[in-house]
Parts: sequence; C-alpha cells; structure tokens
Amino acid sequence: MRTVLPLSHWYYHENYSENHISDFEDMNGFSSIIIPHANKVTPFSNFDEKMYQFVSCYKRKLEIPEVMDGKRIFIDFEGVMTYTEVYLDGKIVGSHKGGYTPFTVEITSAATTGEHELVLKVDSTERSDIPPFGFVIDYLCYGGVYREVYLRAVEDTFIENTKLEHDEELDALDIKVFINSIVRKKMKLQVSLSKDNEVIDSMKLEIEVNEGKNLKTVALKNLSGIELWDLDHPVLYDVRVELVEGKDISDSAEIRYGFRTVQFRADGFYLNNRNIKLLGLNRHQSFPYVGYAMPRRAQEKDADILKFDLGLNVVRTSHYPQSKHFLNRCDEIGLLVFEEIPGWQHIGDEAWQDVAVENVREMIERDWNHPSIMIWGVRINESPDLHDFYKRTNDMARRLDTTRQTGGVRFIEDSELIEDVYTFNDFQAGFKERRHRDQRAVTGLEKDVPFMITEFAGHMHPTKRYDPEQWRVEHANRHAYAHDEIGRDRRIAGAIGWCAFDYNTHYQFGSGDRICYHGVMDMFRLPKYASYVYSSQKDPSVEVVLEPLTNWTQGDRQEGGVMPLDIYTNCDSVKMFIGEKEIGEYKPAFKKFPGLKRPPIIIDEMISTWGDFWNDALFIGYIKGEEVIRRKFLKDPVPSRLIIQVDDRELKAKGYDDSYDVTRVIVTLTDRIENISIYGFERISFNVEGPGTVIGPAETVMTGGAIAFWVKTTGEPGVITVSAETPYLISDQVCIEVI
Ligand code: GAL
Repeated sequence: MRTVLPLSHWYYHENYSENHISDFEDMNGFSSIIIPHANKVTPFSNFDEKMYQFVSCYKRKLEIPEVMDGKRIFIDFEGVMTYTEVYLDGKIVGSHKGGYTPFTVEITSAATTGEHELVLKVDSTERSDIPPFGFVIDYLCYGGVYREVYLRAVEDTFIENTKLEHDEELDALDIKVFINSIVRKKMKLQVSLSKDNEVIDSMKLEIEVNEGKNLKTVALKNLSGIELWDLDHPVLYDVRVELVEGKDISDSAEIRYGFRTVQFRADGFYLNNRNIKLLGLNRHQSFPYVGYAMPRRAQEKDADILKFDLGLNVVRTSHYPQSKHFLNRCDEIGLLVFEEIPGWQHIGDEAWQDVAVENVREMIERDWNHPSIMIWGVRINESPDLHDFYKRTNDMARRLDTTRQTGGVRFIEDSELIEDVYTFNDFQAGFKERRHRDQRAVTGLEKDVPFMITEFAGHMHPTKRYDPEQWRVEHANRHAYAHDEIGRDRRIAGAIGWCAFDYNTHYQFGSGDRICYHGVMDMFRLPKYASYVYSSQKDPSVEVVLEPLTNWTQGDRQEGGVMPLDIYTNCDSVKMFIGEKEIGEYKPAFKKFPGLKRPPIIIDEMISTWGDFWNDALFIGYIKGEEVIRRKFLKDPVPSRLIIQVDDRELKAKGYDDSYDVTRVIVTLTDRIENISIYGFERISFNVEGPGTVIGPAETVMTGGAIAFWVKTTGEPGVITVSAETPYLISDQVCIEVI
C-alpha cells in the first residue's frame, strides 16, 4: 500500500548558500518554520516588492521509515515559488520551474531506510525564464514553499493519476487509470462508484502492466439514477480505484466526481444543457502579510465567501492555477471555475513558452476531475496573438481533456480564435454611456462564437472601502451596469468582474501604495458597496438582502444629501421613513436594469427638506407584501461598540497536514445599532491568548471602521481567547476551541 506523510516542518534561512548542503548540521541563521510558509512577512501596503524576491533555503532531516523499505519513494510539492532545486544527501535529485503547479521528485535510489538530509534551494526572484516573469505584472508572486509537501512511498506498480469521464446519458463512467510500473506483471484493477458510502457499481478487471507508463480504462456501464452536479445541488460521488495483487490491495486512489456537462455555445453557457448567465469575479489567491501562504481553511473560506456571501456562480482563478483546497471547495459548494495558466501580458522566448505549455499539462493533469472547472484558460492573460505558441497550448489542452473547451483571455480585438471560446476583457462594460463592445466588432468574425467577458471595472474605478460615499456608489453601479448590459446580450455567456478582493501589486500598478483597490471586498475580504450588487442577486429564500448605499449622515456627496439613493436589495419593494415620516414605497428599477435578475431600487427625488435630514432613516423591505427586513440609520451616530466576530469557533491544532490552522477575526467599530462607523480610523490592538498567534502585526490601524486579522494555531490544543481594543473601546472576548 502507499504511505503518504506530510513534510510540514522545516528549517529556513533567508539566504541560500552551498554550505547549507555541505555543512548540513550547521543551523546558524536557520529558524524553524511550518509550511505553508511565506519567505518574508510583508507589511500590509507601502512596501518594496523586491523584499521577498531572493533565493532562500529550506532544510530538514528526512526519516525514511522501515515501512517504506523496498518501495518507490517520491516527494510531492504542491507549489513552491518560483524555481526549486531539491537536494538529498548533497546530491540534486530534481528541480522545477514555476510557482503555481505541483511537481514530484523521485528519490527511490537514494532513500534507504534511516535518516537523510533534505535541502531545497528556492529561487523566488522574478526569473525571466519562467512565466509569468519577463516584463511587468499586476500582482505579486510571493516567495516560499507556500503549499503542502508530502513524502510518498508506493509499490513497484502504482496509480499515478486517474481521469474520469461520463457519457451524455449519465449511464456510463469511464475511469482511466494511469499506472506507473518498473516491472511487468499481471494484476487486478478494481473500481467502485459510491455515494454516501453506498456502492452503486463496481468492476474488477485482470490487467497486465508493462514497465513504464500504462493506461488502463475501466468502464462502469448501465449506471442508473445518477444525480447531476449542479449549482444548487453539487452532488458528488466517490470513485475508488484499487490495484490488487493476489489478495492484497497494493495501491489505491480516491477521487470525488460530479456528473455534469458544461458547454459554451454561440448563444451562451450551458450547464447540464440549461442556459446559465455567468455572474462572477476574478480571484487572486493572496492575503495580507503572508501573501500566498495560507492553509486549507482560508482557501476554502474564500470559496465560501464567493459562493455564499456574494452569491456568484463562477470564479476565475486569475492568473494561475490555485490551491487544490480552493478547487475542492468549489466542487463541494457548486461554484464554477475558469482556471488558467500563469502569465500576464508577456510572452517569453521558446524555452519560456515550453514552460508555459508544460504549465498547461500540469494544470490539467492535476485538475481534470474537478466538476467545478468548466473551461481551461490556455493563453497568457492579455497577451498578443502568437499562432504557434497558442496552437501548442490548445493542442495540449485538447489532447489531455476532450470534455472541456478552451479559452484564452485577451483584450485585443480581431485576435485569432484558436480557442473554443473568445474570452475577452472589456473595460468599457459598466460605463453608463459607453456600453460593452459588440462581440462581432471584437472578434472581427462574421458569425457569433462562444463569447464571455472575463474582466471589467478594476483599474477603471479603484475604490477603497472608506472612500467618499459617492465614489463607492459609482463603483457598485459600474458592476451593476456591466452585468445588466451583459445580461441583456444572449450572445455573451456572462461576465466575470475585476475583481473579488483587493491585492498587493508592483509599483507600476494600483494606487502607488502597492495595493490595487479593485476588489468588491478589501484584502481582508470585508465588503465594499460593490459587493452588494452581487449579494443582492441571491434568491431571498437563501438570504434577504437590503443594502441602502449610504452611511446616511456620515460622509459627503458633491451636492449634499444622499440622493440619488441606490438600494441593492432582493426585496420586492422598500419603504423609506425619515423620522416618523413615510417618504414612499419604492420598487426595483426593472426598466433601467432589464438585464439584472434583481435590479437596485433607485430613489432619485428630493425626499427631504433641510431640517428633515437630522432624523433617523428607516428602510423596510417587503416580499409578497410581507415585511422581511429592516435597516435603520441614526441621525447622530457615535462610535460606541467594538464588535468582534470569528469565522470559526473550532480549529485543528495541527491543521490538516501536521501544519497549522487559521481563522479570520473581524473587528468592526459601530454605533449603538451596529452600523459601521465608516470614518473610524483608530489604533487597534489584538489580544490573543492560548494556543494561537496573530498573523501580521498585533497592533495596527483600523481603516474605515473595520479591520480583520487571521489567528493561527501553535500546534497545541486548548482554548484561544481573542479580543480587540482601541484607545476608547474594548470588544467582547471570543473563544476558539482548538482540538
Ligand atoms: C487587467 C488585467 C488584470 C488586472 C486588471 C486591473 O488588464 O488582466 O490582471 O491588472 O487589468 O483592472
């Protein structure tokens, strides 16, 4: 059987030197670290992005236990930025170019039972021979061993990968098993399909394997009653594949699978042959302070935020393959994914292009069993046409996976359509007057083709969570206008806005403080008004949303007052009161936004006289005539509460892989009825006691009335207590149980 052990504990040195290999025992300058690891903890903003671009060293003793004796032994790396050399007992055993895709190093011949010296040279500079580097890019590729590492031992014949494919009628499942062997032998291949631990079908086959790579396909036929994977019911099945020798199972693999069909056609996107308008956002995988180095729980939480808080049906993993945990969660919750290879505008020389083509292979072979993934992005984001190169990336994708179409994100018009879907960044979408471009004007073709907008907004209107109200409202409205206009155009599959979360960037981009404030949420995943455009599209049976885009008496608008007042809501109507006075009952602007499922309510009349304004405002939302929600704003709000919330009340001491666990803590400064004090800029300190520590600084400044931080476990069980404190207020204390 296979044995897999996480290799999460290492010693780390910020400078790589050959002495770290030759003089392995010398621990001078090394500190003990746990993966996921950022090679440098960065400030929140205003830092020199060169600070994490260096060559560092990770080392540890590698104990090969007796159970691995006589087996083939590998080290699996999920993601190391950007170039890695792996040394075992002083000898190089493997290397890899690229920070976003996994790689494996075989160490069988060197790894005898007992202790070995394992050293990694990790080059996190922006090497121009590796995508996305060579020119400039609008995001940071933080350094370090930021995803999991495993030691794996298998028999002489083992399962290297599997690929599942079902037929249209849902009554057959092909299970392709990629078997790697160093011997010729006869054995049995056994597969089963089950759901909720009940076996639905299974099959056993005699097989003969040869030395090298073998592909065996088992077909489960005559399946019945298969349930589809869909957005609201993401039904997952379990497939188990086993290699059997005599009576023993010599290797096995478990795969989760969803039965569904995805197809882009000239008239839109079809999931299970049902037309669905895609409504989504782009996600960068970065977090404050530790960049990419966030473990499973934080990756999963991002997917949950996109699906449940924002109500999206699609996310684009801009601009690279993201964590397996993020993708697994998308499978579980029914969130479609556009996954793409690393790159940004620049195409390098032939050797560089070879790495990019290899990235296509690595991405698809890692992720082809995810039902959530509905298209492969096989172009360097926003790069120029380059026929031979893109022929290669497309051919590679099609050779590996016939069940998904290819796309390739571009911003140029008349671009050569080698892909199946013309995926286009249209930064005109979302303007009131200048509407999105017509698809034929963009493609230069005389017929309609499958077409999707993969970015809009972003740098056209960067917005901070605490910007003037009018600016934040405009940000929201641009997202609404874009989805509205695209919603009306049946020839567009949908739109993925730029972007979900603010992110750190290079000096050439963003607001000059190394942040692109392009998110509908900030870097802590705290909402801006634009996020309500998305959340208000949810069905009210899931959650009733009522978000008047105003802080009422706080803040400034050019002409004073709060008009026009946009209310993003999924209610049928909203009544507004100022003080005791009913101002009116208002309905969604269906005429103005026919392309939105749930248009905002816009109150654009003079609703108050001078004196009225110093009164409370009350909004009551109605569905089918029944009151369902209220939002109130005070005439004279004063920050009077410091509210603390944690995402999780229970953590795992050692995370999921002998590592650590994290959860987010949000602190909000509010008035007495819990409305955010948008002009709250206070010094704030986080008090964390017990087996947990704060990621990033424990004392900082709250911006725009809120801040968040992540707590990480120290490895011990117990209770973490968390509270926060400003010079004037102290929050409650919350407890997190660590098991
Ligand atoms: C696009 C690019 C994104 C981001 C965005 C900002 O051109 O693809 O990565 O930079 O602009 O609006």
